[in-house]
Amino acid sequence: MTSILILNGPNLNLLGQRQPEVYGATTLAEIETACRTHAKALGLGLDFRQDNSEGALIDMIHAARGVHDGIVINAGAYTHTSIALMDALSSVELPAVELHLSNVHAREDFRHRSYIAKVALGVICGFGPNGYKLAIDALAEHLRGSD
Ligand code: DQA
Repeated sequence: MTSILILNGPNLNLLGQRQPEVYGATTLAEIETACRTHAKALGLGLDFRQDNSEGALIDMIHAARGVHDGIVINAGAYTHTSIALMDALSSVELPAVELHLSNVHAREDFRHRSYIAKVALGVICGFGPNGYKLAIDALAEHLRGSD
């Protein structure tokens, strides 16, 4: 069975409470439930994780090799700073989709740079929690094409 990993970075555990005017009222647990339902409907295996530390996210990317077929990553603020996460994604050579709830390009300049985008298939941002479904669809379509 094709399997994907959805990785969530720092502060995303606070979704629903954190700046609801930017990130909405939906919690990460609710997003996980919606992702599980969607992945099941598509016949995909799914692992859904969140961690606040860069090293733990890197370890999860390394562990995905040989287990998952692709990664959806909302790296939070590490998107804009982490060469190490970019290198981890390059190292495992798994197709990755970069994801953000907010439209980072309509926000502060420092959010316009992404290290993840340099090694991602593409980027989905600005569609709130629905972006997770869009990212799963994009990755699933890519994986179907590469069968
Ligand atoms: C975010 C956007 C990032 O700039 C920010 O640091 C986050 C969340 C998003 O999903 O919109 O933590 O990744």
